[in-house]
Amino acid sequence: MNNLSELCVSVEPLKPHFKVLDVGDIFLDPRYDRFLSLPVVQDGRPVGTISRSHVQQVFMSRFGRELQGNKPISEFMNPTPLVVALDRSMAEASQYVTRNIVFPITEDFIVTDGDGYHGMGSVIDLIRGLERQLVSQNASLAQAYEKLKDSQAQLVQSEKMASLGQMVAGVAHEINTPLGYVQNNMELVRDAYGKWGELNGVYDALFGLMNSPDASEADLSGYFSRLRDMREEFAEVYPQESMESLFSDSLYGLRQISEIVVNLKNFSRLDQAAVDNIDINECMISALTIGKNVIKHKAEVVRDFGALPKVSCSPSQINQVFLNLVTNAAQAIDGYGKIVVKTLADEQWVHAVVRDSGKGISAEHLARIYDPFFTTKPIGEGTGLGLSIVFGIVKDHGGQIRVKSEVGKGTAFCVSLPIKKRVLN
Ligand SMILES: Nc1ncnc2c1ncn2[C@@H]1O[C@H](COP(=O)(O)OP(=O)(O)O)[C@@H](O)[C@H]1O
Ligand SMILES: [Mg+2]
Repeated sequence: MNNLSELCVSVEPLKPHFKVLDVGDIFLDPRYDRFLSLPVVQDGRPVGTISRSHVQQVFMSRFGRELQGNKPISEFMNPTPLVVALDRSMAEASQYVTRNIVFPITEDFIVTDGDGYHGMGSVIDLIRGLERQLVSQNASLAQAYEKLKDSQAQLVQSEKMASLGQMVAGVAHEINTPLGYVQNNMELVRDAYGKWGELNGVYDALFGLMNSPDASEADLSGYFSRLRDMREEFAEVYPQESMESLFSDSLYGLRQISEIVVNLKNFSRLDQAAVDNIDINECMISALTIGKNVIKHKAEVVRDFGALPKVSCSPSQINQVFLNLVTNAAQAIDGYGKIVVKTLADEQWVHAVVRDSGKGISAEHLARIYDPFFTTKPIGEGTGLGLSIVFGIVKDHGGQIRVKSEVGKGTAFCVSLPIKKRVLN
């Protein structure tokens, strides 16, 4: 619904058969409407309006009807009525009417069709029409908002997948190293077990011989010396301490692998829901583990973790925030530098700071870093979505993100999350 013609159809008083006074009529005409002003026309063209309050005033005053009733309409009418063309939009009409309305003389307006009179409209009609328009606009806005939220969620997901994709090669490498030496160690253990089996076989044979009445002294001493040789060889090839470190190294490697797998699982969780009791330090450790391969060639990571109260947040999203920040930090460093990751808390907030010794951000770029698709990196390295998603996630958590940067010196991002529980939408 856009213009007045639609309003005319839906609102009774605007219908063209509405009562019309001719400029030649006298005031005391029986056709007055109780609720609306009346149009006055001359040769079909509107020339004025008689407002209902004016009519009431005359009729309510003492002898008003007798004294004024026979006077011509032209003496009473408002000769400069509000006139709006039928093809105007409702917004234009309401703008015009609200600017020019003078209560009580011009509270209703004439609608013209070409030059001629078409109907009367009241401010109430306009308000109703506008309200209907608003309702339908609101509905389509709400729809558009839902769509936007959907596509934003998809964007977040695809950025996450992209950054995961980048990380996968690194993570595979991280898993491969411990996996390699655990495998080697297992082979050594198998060899040792084989040798140990041989040794056992000789022991068994010796025991058998010892129980036999025919065993000669020479046989027995032969076995003893063979056993001694074998044991010496075994101790030489598989010394006790090295076997112990073989086991402890393997267990360490397996722990490393399972740590990476757990973090990977946490990281790629698709749920958006907030969880209570999240340790932000653990989220940071997750991000550093997943990003390790990208970071370790670029920077030494200094961890300065404070004791933090648990917060309510979506851990997979917060992991993503930290991974983006540490990845950006590593990517900003030419050569080899330093990334300091610091966490701390005050009464209301948990703060996580990621500071790098990278190239910094110019003032001109600083204003744009949170814009989607803003990137200074070559295609393939940067999507420009990281910080815009970080910003959205932090905002959804009721948190804040701040940045301080000096060109040539480095950059620090500080993410602050509220400790007090809040409902995420
Ligand atoms: N720690 C940082 N040091 C220097 N520049 C940074 C840092 N973090 C972000 N930026 C700048 O902000 C831009 C946008 O970052 P981001 O949204 O993560 O997208 P991307 O990393 O894909 O380029 C980067 O291209 C870079 O210019
Ligand atoms: Mg980035």
